[in-house]
Amino acid sequence: MGKNLVFVPECRSTNTLALQISQQSAAKEGTLVITDHQTAGKGQHGNHWEAEPRQNLTFSLILKPAFLPANRQFLLNVVICLALKDYLSEKIPDAVYIKWPNDILVHERKISGILIENQLQGASILNSIAGIGLNVNQTAFRSSATATSLALLTGRAYPLDNELPLLVGYIESRYLQLRQGYDRALIGEYLAALYRRHKRHTFSADGAAFEGVIEDLDQIGRLRVRTDDGIRAYGVKEIRYEH
Ligand code: BTN
Repeated sequence: MGKNLVFVPECRSTNTLALQISQQSAAKEGTLVITDHQTAGKGQHGNHWEAEPRQNLTFSLILKPAFLPANRQFLLNVVICLALKDYLSEKIPDAVYIKWPNDILVHERKISGILIENQLQGASILNSIAGIGLNVNQTAFRSSATATSLALLTGRAYPLDNELPLLVGYIESRYLQLRQGYDRALIGEYLAALYRRHKRHTFSADGAAFEGVIEDLDQIGRLRVRTDDGIRAYGVKEIRYEH
């Protein structure tokens, strides 16, 4: 992973560029598309991803998980989240949590966001573009009051060229675990790192707020939340965390 590297000094979105590359040529699995300056970074739910030029890691990996059925695609989120947790925990032990489905938090602040875009063919995944934004050296965030970075958390700067191969190494290890069929173990580790698991929290769904407790995930990666009315599973767009 990352042996084929496409670097562009500037682009709108590495996810969009990686998608084009994956469709145009016989792009190899593991191809990494990275930029110094992402001008229109895409976030989840149509949001914008802010990243100052040359301060952070913004890249996308082209994956071809032919072994993974489309209805298990959430396992790619699990893999990338765990890899980020592995990488960050080396620098900030005991403080890294995963907010379902794929935000990485340290002390309740978001340090990394993940946008995985899958191209399906029937029940299979043809291409998966795993886009990762990791706040490394940026110390002020205009568009988010709850963002943080490695530099803010540890008070030091990190050369991006050193950090990229470390992070990609963790992604490769976790991806290989998935390919070898360790789904259950991966999900177990993901659940163990889940933000606010087993704690009462306010959520909203269909415009109504309610109290619930995160239990686990169902077979297709939906969040199972226990409320006074029993357990219900929610898809990504069906539930929000409130404050
Ligand atoms: C989110 O938390 O909303 C997801 C943010 C994902 C940002 C990364 S940066 C590299 C890749 N290219 C994009 O346009 N988005 C992802």
